[in-house]
Amino acid sequence: MSVQVQGVEKRYVRRDRETVALAPVDLTIDKGDFVAFVGPSGCGKSTLLNMIAGIIEPSAGKILHEGQQVRGVNQRVGYMTQTDSVLPWRTVYDNIELPLTFRPFSAAQRRERVEAMMKAVDLSGFANSFPNELSGGMRKRVALAQVLVYEPGTLLMDEPFGALDAQLKLMMQRRLLDIWQETGKTVIFVTHDLSEAVTLAQRVVVFSGRPGHIKAIEPINIPFPRDPFKVRFEPEFQASYERLWSILAPEIAKGEDI
Ligand SMILES: Nc1ncnc2c1ncn2[C@@H]1O[C@H](COP(=O)(O)OP(=O)(O)OP(=O)(O)O)[C@@H](O)[C@H]1O
Ligand SMILES: [Mg+2]
Repeated sequence: MSVQVQGVEKRYVRRDRETVALAPVDLTIDKGDFVAFVGPSGCGKSTLLNMIAGIIEPSAGKILHEGQQVRGVNQRVGYMTQTDSVLPWRTVYDNIELPLTFRPFSAAQRRERVEAMMKAVDLSGFANSFPNELSGGMRKRVALAQVLVYEPGTLLMDEPFGALDAQLKLMMQRRLLDIWQETGKTVIFVTHDLSEAVTLAQRVVVFSGRPGHIKAIEPINIPFPRDPFKVRFEPEFQASYERLWSILAPEIAKGEDI
């Protein structure tokens, strides 16, 4: 078992006003699973990822990661947050190296890993470039390398490819699927894009509108390896998309912030 979410609830209190961001949620994700989260804006998807990453604490319930309760920052997950953590004043090399500097790696190990990672995301020629000299897709590849470089067993990705154009998005999806198939990592992937969820995931968790809770968990029965450029033409893709849309559409219609 990679991630177990048990009766987890999150309430935020601000100036005596309470927001229930997440109603009790139960969810088990096995090691090596690729799971997508979809749901209307404000239903608590980022909140749940933040709790799995140990950045915020549940108001009730508990989260286990690889059998251990998450308490404090969870160093064993790689987290690509909704706004990435690429620092503009650091070069590509230094950005990718950054997470290693907080962990017990020697200088030689750091160099070896950063160079291997730059190769894996096709950025070897850009070690000394700064983020503002990169295209949007290259910047996303830096962010991806940052979370992969310390080899976490679990990746949390919060709308990582949302801002990319359609073509680049497909290329990043292909890259991610390759990495997932090579390494067997557990991936939890938040997206607003149902096509993206169907393209990538083995299971899609559909959240309801506020207060967020799980409305359905749908398996996507399309065999792997999947090619993001072609998978959309398969009949099973269309069927899965329509099934998900029929579950999600009423939730979106209910929301006032969409
Ligand atoms: N630090 C905070 N303090 C108070 N309320 C918060 C805080 N963070 C999130 N919320 C509220 O909790 C709810 C869930 O927010 P969250 O960011 O988890 O939603 P989301 O599903 O990720 O939305 P989106 O799809 O827009 O990214 C929202 O109503 C939001 O306003
Ligand atoms: Mg969010």
